[in-house]
Amino acid sequence: MADDPESSSNNHQKIMKTCKEIRQSFLDYFAGRKHRIVPGASLVPGNDPSLLFTSAGMVQFKDVFLGIEPRPALRAVTVQRCVRAGGKHNDLEQVGHTARHHTFFEMLGNFSFGDYFKEQAIEYAWQYLTEVLALPAERLWVTVYQDDQESARIWRERIGIPAERFSACGAEHNFWTMGETGPCGPCSEIYYDHGADIPGAPPGSAEKDGDRYVEIWNLVFTQYQRDKQGVLKPIPHPSVDTGMGLERIAAVLQGVHNNYDSDAFQSVLHALQALARQSSVSSLRVIADHIRAIAFLICDGVTPGNEGRDYVLRRIIRRAVRHGHKLGISGPFLHKLLPALEESMGDFYPFLEEKRCHIEDIVRREEQRFGQTLEQGLKLMMELVDTTPGRIIPGESAFRLYDTYGFPLDLSADIAREHGMEIDEQGFNGAMAEQRRRAREASRFGPEEHPETTPATNSSFSGYALLEQKARVTELYQNGQQVDTLQQGDSGGVILPETPFYARAGGQVGDRGELTIDGGGYFEVQDTCLQGQACIHLGVLRAGTLKVGDKIMASVSPEHRARVMRNHSATHLLHAALRRLLGDQVVQKGSLVAADRLRFDFSFEQPLTLEQIEELERMITRQILQNSETVIQQMPLEKARQSGAMMLFGEKYADPVRVLSIGGTFSRELCGGTHVARCGDIGLFKIIAETGIAAGVRRIEALTGDTALDWVQKNTARLDRMALMLKTEPESAEERLSQQLGKVRTLEKELSRLRSQLVSNASEDMLATATEVMGIKVLAQHIEGADSKTLRETVQRLKDRHKGIVALLATVSGEGRISLVAGVAKDSVGRIQAVELVNYVARQVGGRGGGQPDLAQAGGTDPDALAEALAGVPDWVSLRLETADTAQQVDG
Ligand code: SER
Repeated sequence: MADDPESSSNNHQKIMKTCKEIRQSFLDYFAGRKHRIVPGASLVPGNDPSLLFTSAGMVQFKDVFLGIEPRPALRAVTVQRCVRAGGKHNDLEQVGHTARHHTFFEMLGNFSFGDYFKEQAIEYAWQYLTEVLALPAERLWVTVYQDDQESARIWRERIGIPAERFSACGAEHNFWTMGETGPCGPCSEIYYDHGADIPGAPPGSAEKDGDRYVEIWNLVFTQYQRDKQGVLKPIPHPSVDTGMGLERIAAVLQGVHNNYDSDAFQSVLHALQALARQSSVSSLRVIADHIRAIAFLICDGVTPGNEGRDYVLRRIIRRAVRHGHKLGISGPFLHKLLPALEESMGDFYPFLEEKRCHIEDIVRREEQRFGQTLEQGLKLMMELVDTTPGRIIPGESAFRLYDTYGFPLDLSADIAREHGMEIDEQGFNGAMAEQRRRAREASRFGPEEHPETTPATNSSFSGYALLEQKARVTELYQNGQQVDTLQQGDSGGVILPETPFYARAGGQVGDRGELTIDGGGYFEVQDTCLQGQACIHLGVLRAGTLKVGDKIMASVSPEHRARVMRNHSATHLLHAALRRLLGDQVVQKGSLVAADRLRFDFSFEQPLTLEQIEELERMITRQILQNSETVIQQMPLEKARQSGAMMLFGEKYADPVRVLSIGGTFSRELCGGTHVARCGDIGLFKIIAETGIAAGVRRIEALTGDTALDWVQKNTARLDRMALMLKTEPESAEERLSQQLGKVRTLEKELSRLRSQLVSNASEDMLATATEVMGIKVLAQHIEGADSKTLRETVQRLKDRHKGIVALLATVSGEGRISLVAGVAKDSVGRIQAVELVNYVARQVGGRGGGQPDLAQAGGTDPDALAEALAGVPDWVSLRLETADTAQQVDG
C-alpha cells in the first residue's frame, strides 16, 4: 500500500532527488513559466535595521511589494538562504529537539508582483508537487486563512482537495507577516503527512505539534502592509510570495522523516561523527545545523560580538561549542567541518570556499575564547542544576554564568531544559539591567559630566543654524556638585537653556569654544556632552567669575566645528563608497568623527588593496568636485526607511528622523550630526590608514580639508628630503633606493667573505701562539673585527684540521656584545667539552651558552672582563684534563 498515508514508508518515491537537483528543478519549473531567476540576497537585510536577518525569500523584495522599488520583473523565482534565530522568526530553541527546525535553511520561492494571484499560485504549487516531484496527492494536506473564501474555493473546487485533508485556520497560522511592520497577507499552507507512526496531529487541530504533518510550502497572498499601529493598508498590487523549505522537501523526496537524515546534512554529520567521542544524536544535529548558520552569517559580514546580529552569531557558536563538549570533542573543532559543508553546498554557494580562511579564522577565535571558560561555567551550571530546589534556576545565577563565563541565556536554558528545568528569565533580565546601570556609572568621565543631581535644564540645540548665541546660565557644577559660582581657574560644567554647542553623540565629538561673560571674563569650553536633557559645557573658567543667572555669549569655535563637519560628511561619503565598491556586506561597526581625523570601522574579511583604497579616494573626490548641496529632511522613520536611507542596526532613532543626503543620491543616511553645506566644503579627502581591528572588521582612518593638506605636505617634504639624501629627484628616489639596497646587500656578502678569508689565513698563524697543556694545544684569543659567523667557521676549521686542539675565540661588536665560540678536536672531546669551556668563559663575561661537545657558542655583555677570562683558559683546560685523566685511571 504505497500510497496509504497510514503507513510511514515513503516508497512511492521513485525519484530520489538531492538538494542540488531540487533547487535546479524548482528554478527550471518557474523559469519555464516566465519567472526571472533572481539570486538570493545577503542574510543581512540591506536597508532594514528593523529586521535581524533575512528570514524568508520575500525579504529582498519587501520594497517591491510596497511599491517603493521598481519591480525587477513581474514574476521572480529564488533560492534564498535564511536564518531564523533571534528576532520575530526565531527557531533557535527548537533546533535539535524537532525533525524540522533550523537556524539556517534554504527557501525556494516564486513571486508575483501584481501579476498572477491566488488561482495561478495554487495551480503552480499543486502541479509542481504532484507532477514534477510526483508526490501522491493523498499525502498532502492544505490549510487556508479562515476568511479567505476565494482560496478555499480554488483548493476545494478547482484542485479537488477533499474536506478531510483541508482546514481553515485563524490568523495565528494563516496570516503571514514579515515583522512588526511590512508586507503581509492571508496564506495557504501545504503539509506533507509523514505517516501514522510519526507522532503529530493534523494542522489546525489542538495537538498540531509533532513531526507527522510537516508544512512544506507556504503561499502568501500579499495584499497589505502593516504599519506601526498594526493598521493594514492595501499595497499597490495584490502579489504572491511563496516559500518552500528545501530541507523539508528533500526529506520527503528522500523517504526520510527527519531533515537531518536528508542529504543536506550528511557530509557534515559524517565529518562530525569522526570527531566525536561520545554519541548524542541531538548534539550532532544541533552542530550540523549551527555550522551552516555560522558559516553563512560570517560570509555575509556578521562577526561574533555583544550586540544585535553579532550577538546572535556568538550565541549560535557558543551553543555549538557546548554541544561539541557533550560529544567529547576537545579544542576548537567547528572549522574542521567546513570542508564537509563545502562538499554539500559549495557548488551552489561558491563563496563558502572563497571565504574559507576567513570563516575559519573567526570561528576558531571565538571557540578559543569561549573554550577558556566553558569547563568552569559548565561545572557551575551543573552545581546549579543539582542544588536548586524546584525547577526554576534563579536568574541571578544564570546572569553570573553569562557575565563571568560567557554563557548566553539560551545556552543555559538549553542545558537547564536537558535536566527538566528552566531559567528565571525575568530575574536574568533584571540582573542584566542592574549591571548595565552600574557600568554606566563606572564609566563616568568626570564629575561635571555626570553630576550627582540630574540637571533640571532642558537645553535646546540651535547649532545647526548658529555658531553664536546669547544665553543665561541656569546651572553650574563643580566636582559633581551643583554650585552657584565658579571662580577664575575652576574646572566645571556650565548649563544653558539654549546653546549652539553640539554635545558629543553618534560618533561625533562635542563642540569646543568659549562662553564670554557679559560683565567680563570667559569660560573655555573643552568638550560638550549631554546629561539627561541638559547640554553640559565642560571646561575651565579662564578669567572672571561665573554665577548662575549670568548672561553670556556662547561661541562655538568655527575652525573646530568646520573640521568636524568636513570629517562627518566625508564619513557618510566613505560609508556609501565602501558599500558601492565592496558590496552590501559592508556593515558599519563603529565610527569616530573628531576634528583632526575620522575613523570608520566596518565588516569586511580581507585587507583592502591599494587599488581599492585609491578608488575610494577617487569616488569621494568625484562627489566633492560635483559640489552638490547637502539636503536635510525631517520625515517619519518609516518614510525614511522606505526612501532607502542607511540606518544602523540596533540604533534607536527618534521619530521623525533627520535624513541627510550628501552628494545628491550618493549617500542617504539618518543622522543628527553637523554637516557641510556643500560637498565641495570638504576640500581634500585622504585615506591615511587601513587596518584590521578584529577578525572580519577593518578600520579606515582618513583626513579632510586643511588636515589632509597638512598630511600630504609633510609626506611630500619627507620624500623630498629622502631624495636629497639619495642625491636624486623624488620621482627617481624609489629606484635609487632599491639600487642602493641592492648594493648594500652585495657589499655585506663581500665583507663577510673577506672576513672569513682573513681570519682563516690568520688561524694557522694563531696556532703558533697556542699554549701546550698536557699534550693539547690550547688557543684562547680575542679577534677584533670578526663576527660570530667568522668565529664559528674559524674554530670549525681549526678543530677539523688538527688533532689535539682546544680553541676558544672571542670578538666584541661595536655595541659591546661579546660572541664566544669554543671548539674541541674530535680526538679530544672525551677529555674536554666545548660546552663546558664556552660556559666557563661566558660566566665571567655575563653570559651563557650552549651547543655540542665539539662546538659551542655563547654571548656575553662585559667586555672588560674578557681578557682575564681568556687568560684563565689554559689553567682551566689543565684542571679539566687532570680530572678527566684521574677519572679514567680510577675507572681503569
Ligand atoms: N514569506 C513566507 C514564509 O516565510 C512565504 O515565503 O513562510
